[in-house]
Amino acid sequence: MSALLTTRTLPLSELPAWQALLTHCQEVRRFHLRQLFADDPQRGKRFAIDACGIYLDYSKNRITAETVQLLIQLAEACGLRERQEAMFSGQKINVTERRAVLHTALRAPIGERILVDGIDVVPEVHKVLGKMADFTDKIHRGAWRGHSGRPIRNIINIGIGGSDLGPVMAYEALRHYSQRDMIFRFISNVDGTDFVEATRDLNPEETLFIICSKTFRTLETLTNAHTAREWVLRKLGDEQAVARHFVAVSTNTEGVAEFGIDTNEMFGMWDWDGGRYSMDSAVGLSTMLAIGAENFHAMLSGFHDMDQHVRTAPFDQNLPVLMGLLAVWYINFFEAQTVAVLPYEQYLKRFPAYLQQLTMESNGKHVTLDGTKVDYQTGPIYWGEPGTNGQHSFYQLIHQGTKLVPCDFIGFCRALNPLGRHHDLLMANLFAQTEALAFGKTEEEVRAEGTPDWLVPHRTCEGNRPTNTLLAERLTPRTLGSLVALYEHSVFTQGVIWNIDSFDQWGVELGKALAEKTTPELETSQAPNLQHDSSTNALIERYRRFRKR
Ligand code: F6P
Repeated sequence: MSALLTTRTLPLSELPAWQALLTHCQEVRRFHLRQLFADDPQRGKRFAIDACGIYLDYSKNRITAETVQLLIQLAEACGLRERQEAMFSGQKINVTERRAVLHTALRAPIGERILVDGIDVVPEVHKVLGKMADFTDKIHRGAWRGHSGRPIRNIINIGIGGSDLGPVMAYEALRHYSQRDMIFRFISNVDGTDFVEATRDLNPEETLFIICSKTFRTLETLTNAHTAREWVLRKLGDEQAVARHFVAVSTNTEGVAEFGIDTNEMFGMWDWDGGRYSMDSAVGLSTMLAIGAENFHAMLSGFHDMDQHVRTAPFDQNLPVLMGLLAVWYINFFEAQTVAVLPYEQYLKRFPAYLQQLTMESNGKHVTLDGTKVDYQTGPIYWGEPGTNGQHSFYQLIHQGTKLVPCDFIGFCRALNPLGRHHDLLMANLFAQTEALAFGKTEEEVRAEGTPDWLVPHRTCEGNRPTNTLLAERLTPRTLGSLVALYEHSVFTQGVIWNIDSFDQWGVELGKALAEKTTPELETSQAPNLQHDSSTNALIERYRRFRKR
């Protein structure tokens, strides 16, 4: 058994800090945020941290100073500092896959040394970054041309999961900084519609595909890649064209070569770089092509700032650690099931979708590192939509529903597209929502407005609904890097407390294997001898009957 598995002497729920939190929580449940704020006029500033250009106001949480102390004691009892160091120093903390977890090396500056199996990985990382920058420069200058000599104007990233969600999110988030004379699209779904709609108005002669797959074995990505190949060859009619219209991001040189992509045009990754933690690796090639190498490096600096912060700041001043511990507080002590992420920034519209993989593929686990079934809740469901759209949709449930939904509100002081009163209105809504959720509207206040008795209960908002507010000056590449790293380290903090492997994803494999078995059963013209359960057999039979029409 790895030394990393033996650091715990007691199961989580038997740790004294956990027990103390259970008792403490009974007391805190009786407090209302109205009272906590009335009792401490400095609360709004006391429970706030300013780090890496991000101001976290966590005062509107159902906590006291003692809660923070106890949560930190829990983190210490779980060996969070040691586990962080194990990650940063390249130990194989992904125990089920026996891999190091080194996304932090992807943004380590030149000169830093990080060893995996005795090899310093930082120079390799910078070599790939340099290759990405050269390629970006060639595309931007028109020095890399399509097979028929036309410059590349369209970039299509084909990937799924971590090889798609990060690139899409980053492209949308940083669109303001992007090459407006180029088109960037993303194909992920094996549903043919995704491919057809992404390519229908494009000229293959001006289109470059990035086939982005760490394993180069993923069904959806390879299917879309082969369709893209046919699409290019249908127009250009020459196998040689593949080399000018396809590049790959992968660890699988053989697979890339077999597909027909020149392996000189392959941008490498490493097994210590997990898919959902890879948007700052070569997986970000589309991002670099969109925003340029300089902006990409600024984004990496933002990631690195947060890495330094999480590693060195005391836990009570540590943004990702506190956010992770607050998530644990609500999931394990208030029975919350979800966390809503609500960006008041249109450019962050894909941020909640990105976070869903980051958080749920990481912490959706049912056993601890040594395989023991957990007797507590793990990873919450992360979800969300940009404000103010969500306000006119699901916020009602957050305000008055029967479920506790802790929320992260994300906003910026300066608009990237200043337009009349728009930004002030947007931000007024953010501030108003967190205020309304915390303080609500009492029965007395509703009555004082002359509301008839029968309507009073309907209009009363009990408040006491917890929120974090993340406020930064402006959405820049650097801020985005820090913001993503903040959530990465918050997820890690949660995973350490729960004693789970946040870096594997075995659950996803079962569905993949069954799909592989089922595909030939759908494609054959013979009536297959179906050996699934009676429900799946009936569904397949019905599909086969109607698909023929
Ligand atoms: O969904 C499972 C998964 O393995 C993710 O973890 C990963 O990001 C995605 O598939 C894509 O994998 P690949 O980059 O190897 O195609």
